[in-house]
Amino acid sequence: MRKPLIAGNWKMNGTKASVETLLAGVVAGAGAIERSEVAVCPPYPFLQMAASALAGSSVRLGAQNCATAASGAFTGEVAAPMLADFGCHYVIIGHSERRAMYGEDEAILAKKLAAAFAAGLTPILCVGETLEERERGDMEKVIAAQIDGIIALCGIGAFGSLELAYEPVWAIGTGKTATPAQAQEVHAFIRARLAGHDAAVAQKVRILYGGSMKGSNALELLSQPDIDGGLIGGAALNADEFLSIAKAGDAATQ
Ligand code: PGA
Repeated sequence: MRKPLIAGNWKMNGTKASVETLLAGVVAGAGAIERSEVAVCPPYPFLQMAASALAGSSVRLGAQNCATAASGAFTGEVAAPMLADFGCHYVIIGHSERRAMYGEDEAILAKKLAAAFAAGLTPILCVGETLEERERGDMEKVIAAQIDGIIALCGIGAFGSLELAYEPVWAIGTGKTATPAQAQEVHAFIRARLAGHDAAVAQKVRILYGGSMKGSNALELLSQPDIDGGLIGGAALNADEFLSIAKAGDAATQ
């Protein structure tokens, strides 16, 4: 059985004071989580603080993005080796907000994945369709193109060393969660698509669900056979709410 991964994507939120409180809450409650793996992905300026607060706990650290290059004249960018140096284990790649607002396409994402792997980080690669694409009946086509694009550029082997996150864009930050059946259908579709290339990789890869996941809907989602965790936005900004999702991950794998 794949161990659930519950990862908090804090996006561009927090102050030194609020982050200190949130980290303390997550660390204090993480000891009670038995089976789920827990990770937090704060904004860059808080990584050092987070690395110190998480030291000695089971909670892993991640970042939300990285540059395509390892160093050099790229004003404003942050390189994957820097993230590794600051104690990051994960880096989110290809979140729909970055695809939509910063024009990140498969060619850029493939370079970011390569940069993350080279730095020893584990990418959390995000895919997902917009409401318009779903209503047009193009959901499978869009997801397949996102997966196939990365397979073509990075090889199927890359999926053996990363985490996937299915995040329907219409469910992100909207309070509209995909139903467990809707999410399971897409997760199974993604796994089958990967299995067409490599059955072992498809069985191994964790596919997280993201999009308005919270304590009250987590158990049903995480109980689906192909949902292996959650990428949590809004609900990750409250330690108790976030940890209640990790507890649901425990309960779903009992
Ligand atoms: P949400 O965000 O939980 O606030 O919907 C999830 C995400 O964008 O990763």
